[in-house]
Amino acid sequence: MNVLVLGSGGREHTFCWKLAQSKIVEGLYAAPGNAGTALIANNLDFGVNDFAAVKKAALLHNIDLVVVGPEDPLVNGIHDFFLDDIKLKHIPVIGPQKLAATLEGSKEFAKEFMMRHNIPTAKYGSFSPENIEEGYQFLDQLSPPYVLKADGLAGGKGVLIIEDLLEAKEELSNMLLDKKFGAASAKVVIEEFLTGIELSCFVLTDGKSFVTFPMAKDYKKIGEGDTGLNTGGMGAVSPVPFADEAFTEKIHQQVVVPTINGLAKDNIPYVGFVFIGLIKIGEDPFVIEYNVRMGDPETEVVLPRIKNDFGEILMAVGAQRLSEIKLEIDTRAVTTVVAVSGGYPEDYQKGKVILGLDRVEESQVFHAGTINDCR
Ligand code: AMP
Ligand code: GLY
Repeated sequence: MNVLVLGSGGREHTFCWKLAQSKIVEGLYAAPGNAGTALIANNLDFGVNDFAAVKKAALLHNIDLVVVGPEDPLVNGIHDFFLDDIKLKHIPVIGPQKLAATLEGSKEFAKEFMMRHNIPTAKYGSFSPENIEEGYQFLDQLSPPYVLKADGLAGGKGVLIIEDLLEAKEELSNMLLDKKFGAASAKVVIEEFLTGIELSCFVLTDGKSFVTFPMAKDYKKIGEGDTGLNTGGMGAVSPVPFADEAFTEKIHQQVVVPTINGLAKDNIPYVGFVFIGLIKIGEDPFVIEYNVRMGDPETEVVLPRIKNDFGEILMAVGAQRLSEIKLEIDTRAVTTVVAVSGGYPEDYQKGKVILGLDRVEESQVFHAGTINDCR
């Protein structure tokens, strides 16, 4: 089959790397891809939100399956776009429809979903400019630190954790009244602060059955020794040492099963990856957030542990035959470290040349956001 992977990160390079090993994948395309995917797939020159270009490429290259890496095109409805198009509707899209993508696109929607289905999560309130006074009162009742979340997608920057009550109230006003994060902060979710250790659980569903991938943990701080500013993730490990069998079983029973059943009960069709951000408090899991995609860099440590043919897994998802797949997991540990341009995650120099990748041994290099420039 011919597969199109949308995205340009390390996650998408890893998808391509695993799909390139598949016995059933003949043509592999990445849009826009990066210098790493260019080595193993055909890069196509358009962005992930250019649906007209995706359609043209899908027809031109006889694409049999589309794998969506990032959340943006999902929240923008790429899956629905395929279903609504007579020429595209037969092509399975791995990534949920717009309604389900709201689990990542709206924090309020995600919290309401968790409440409805008794999924353990932090206490919260949701506020808009109309009831900002109630928001201030809610903050008065909480103890510091205060967690303020822009409801919508804010490029990973929409969560503020603030020690001081007055400052928290000021930020609530900045977000709601001064639109600090634009339309994304038209509503703000305020949460009780949870103290514990974070990890991520990845589930793949075809809407009927599901498989759970190995757990992973990413490390988000830029500096040595887990210090400094937050990033999208500077590294990751799998398995997660503190996620023993008993705790993993709790995650399954208290979080994964109610999530998948909840989607069905609410009539929310879901085909694709569910990334559940968790925090372990004592011996109990609490959900911090849902993402409707794989994590990056977590994908780089999760996929190498899956022994199955990834093309076969994804084809089974597309055909709603996932129940036939039995995952085989490599028990060995995988870790990844992200090398970035100095200054990241603040302003940093772009266009630097990377040398020496051909000399890397006994490790796999995955590219993120690189381009091939052979001038
Ligand atoms: P989110 O975008 O919801 O995942 O939040 C980003 C990060 O903020 C998470 O990865 C956590 O480190 C932190 N965070 C979010 N919500 C809470 C909470 N209720 N208590 C403690 N930390 C949180
Ligand atoms: N590494 C966190 C994320 O992909 O959102």
